[in-house]
Amino acid sequence: MVTFDRHRRLRSSVAMRDLVRENHLDKDDLIMPVFVDATIKDREEIKSMPGVFRYSLDSILDEIKTIVDLGVKSIIIFGIPDHKDDVGSGAWEDDGIVQQAIRKIKKAYPDLIVIADTCMCEYTSTGHCGIVKDHKVLNDESLVYLTDTAVSQVKAGADIIAPSNAMDGFVAAIREGLDKNGFKETPIMSYSVKYASSFYGPFRDAADGAPKFGDRKGYQMDPANRLEALREVASDEKEGADFVMVKPAMAFLDVMRDVRDRTNLPLVAYNVSGEYAMIKAAAQNGWINEDQIVKETLVGMKRAGADLIITYFAKDAAKRMNEQRW
Ligand code: PBG
Repeated sequence: MVTFDRHRRLRSSVAMRDLVRENHLDKDDLIMPVFVDATIKDREEIKSMPGVFRYSLDSILDEIKTIVDLGVKSIIIFGIPDHKDDVGSGAWEDDGIVQQAIRKIKKAYPDLIVIADTCMCEYTSTGHCGIVKDHKVLNDESLVYLTDTAVSQVKAGADIIAPSNAMDGFVAAIREGLDKNGFKETPIMSYSVKYASSFYGPFRDAADGAPKFGDRKGYQMDPANRLEALREVASDEKEGADFVMVKPAMAFLDVMRDVRDRTNLPLVAYNVSGEYAMIKAAAQNGWINEDQIVKETLVGMKRAGADLIITYFAKDAAKRMNEQRW
């Protein structure tokens, strides 16, 4: 007689499936992105990201309250300044929009983990993530400004620095800068594996950070590459990163797994703006079940090895988790 395995024994009821489930989503895993905008009065919805808003300094605490009340314990903050220049001064000034917002948020919610995205593309007139000369993004010169940005963000109260400008040596430079300024205890969450991706499209509308010429392929990674990702992670570990990240997430879950198998650091998945926009658009058309798709997407990231997930769905997911275990 032909024998076969009875896999369905472990799928026979809700309770049985709950018993053998391998991965779970938890509110502690979620990081909610927040945009603070120096150019608006109240709040404005981002067209390509329904349900996600940019907030003025005056209105930001309402959003933070909503996040905290839902039980989400950490945010990552992005700024839209009211001036742009060659050196991205809005990124590192003491009274920059992000610095002001962090001070305000930490004062009202000292226990909330505030992660600062440390980059320059929202602040430079070129829209590039560093200093540009002769149409080239300069590596080492950009590190100086990036480090100043990180230091000013920590001075304002940021709990974690998340450098995303994809320059070589950015973790080492920031670590040195933070240590020198007495911030030895502040962790660095590196955007270690950051692909040059079209999935960032809606974010660039949101943060007004699209490059004015060229693209980011000279500093962000080629989506066709896997081993390069492992080299990036190895460098960041050596330079002192406390967390590593893979971004985007959905089309790069194989890389997530590869990184998970090679690092003992906490691994962060960035479920980016384009991934959010696609799900929202399909859901708004009634083509998919948003709730189920979001759950499947996020648990897929955990299955691939992510410990933490930065996601625009963080509030929605937390709401669902408060109603029932996900
Ligand atoms: C850089 C930065 C970007 C994102 C996060 N940090 C944009 C980019 O690199 O072009 C994208 C996030 C998203 O798409 O949700 N400041």
